[in-house]
Amino acid sequence: MNNERNNFRTKIGIIFATAGSAVGLGNLWRFPIETGNNGGGAFLMIYLIAIIFIGLPLMIAEFAIGRSTHANIATAYKKLSNNRFWNKIGYIGVFSATIITSYYLVVAGWTVFYLIEALSNGFSIEVTGGLEDAYTDIFSNFIANPFLSVIYTLIFILMTHLIIVKGVQKGIEKSSKIMMPMLFIIIMILAVCSIFTPGAKEGLTFLFKPNFNKITTASLLSAIGQCFYSLSLAMGCLCTYASYFKKDVNLIKTAFNISLIDTLIAILAGVIIFPAVFSVGINPEAGPSLIFITLPHVFQSVFGFSPVLVYIVSILFYVLLILATLTSAISLYEVMTAFISETYNISRNKATIIISITMVLLGSFCALSMGELNWIKICDRNIFDIFDFVSSNILLPITGMLICLFVGWKMDKDLLYKQITNKSRNTKDRHLTFQAILYYCIVFLLRYIIPIAIAIIFIDGLGII
Ligand code: PHE
Repeated sequence: MNNERNNFRTKIGIIFATAGSAVGLGNLWRFPIETGNNGGGAFLMIYLIAIIFIGLPLMIAEFAIGRSTHANIATAYKKLSNNRFWNKIGYIGVFSATIITSYYLVVAGWTVFYLIEALSNGFSIEVTGGLEDAYTDIFSNFIANPFLSVIYTLIFILMTHLIIVKGVQKGIEKSSKIMMPMLFIIIMILAVCSIFTPGAKEGLTFLFKPNFNKITTASLLSAIGQCFYSLSLAMGCLCTYASYFKKDVNLIKTAFNISLIDTLIAILAGVIIFPAVFSVGINPEAGPSLIFITLPHVFQSVFGFSPVLVYIVSILFYVLLILATLTSAISLYEVMTAFISETYNISRNKATIIISITMVLLGSFCALSMGELNWIKICDRNIFDIFDFVSSNILLPITGMLICLFVGWKMDKDLLYKQITNKSRNTKDRHLTFQAILYYCIVFLLRYIIPIAIAIIFIDGLGII
């Protein structure tokens, strides 16, 4: 069977879909935690530098690979290189996407559970012990319950499946055009609510005022790691989406817009979370339980004077999380869908079914690993943690490094120039245009600076230094 390849129809569709991939739990969950742990405003500044010098060039590199080949990631590298080593990068990408999706879907399932709890007013609790204990109980009972944790993972898989089978234009592009504006409106409403809480001044000072005393080498590495995660770098998503970009799309401008949206949303998440958290006097270094344990508590305490407001804010917050995770999950799914349907020449429908079945198995396994299957441990970590560790600390840095080296050193430079500037390279012309200067800067960063930065995170992530 021959699968007609579709492109994204509009430029705004490209921005929404790709920003949808980037905006996710990384912005709403990981960014506030990292900022909280690393001294607020100072971390924000370093993060912005990492986005500009590492995130943007790598995103442009991935776009160039995808758009120049119009193929899934495994085929893309094969088309660009006949070297047996380099043309394997795509396979690592597909493998990483599979591992990441299986645990991302589990956390995504939690967001659906929390929305349903919020809708049934499950967070307005008569507490006898500490308020936070009651919320800790809701969370731990939920993840330890084999039935519930699997069911919600499956619900999320179904939602993702239904969008992906519809295809690139009618599924991904159309749904992103609806979900991203909704996400933006909700985040603005919540940010405004948060600014009127009593802890607003303290929270915003914490977020924006640089406290350089708290910056250590570890914070630098966290900023780079966060930049990778938040922009969906090195997971194949950007490259796969770019394979649906038309020829006239300006890659530099698109990458810039997406990084800007992603960063703004991360900052707005901080604006929502810190003022509210300070209003209740909780330590902002609350760790990963922040959005599932601390926030329901915070909403209850801060807006407790009006039960309707608590109800609405909680619902809006969890709808926001679902929108953000769903648009990211579809981009991960698309990496696998494009790979399977094009490599094995089967219809998109069949490919999606194969992926969903695989995800049901792997996702349930991950979900159960926090309860029933908690006894399965490798190096003291359960399956969920292993998947997270292997993908974030091993596969992502390795793929990121290989992409930089490949695009910086191996990829045909005329082709790369054409992708980045949308013009042919004229080596005889001595006059450098602004775009040509950008091209040289990107190649320089890809060749030297980013691989060194990645090597350091990699070594640190493995706990060697
Ligand atoms: N960038 C997404 C986020 O910020 C994370 C993500 C991971 C997206 C994997 C796609 C793939 O949450």
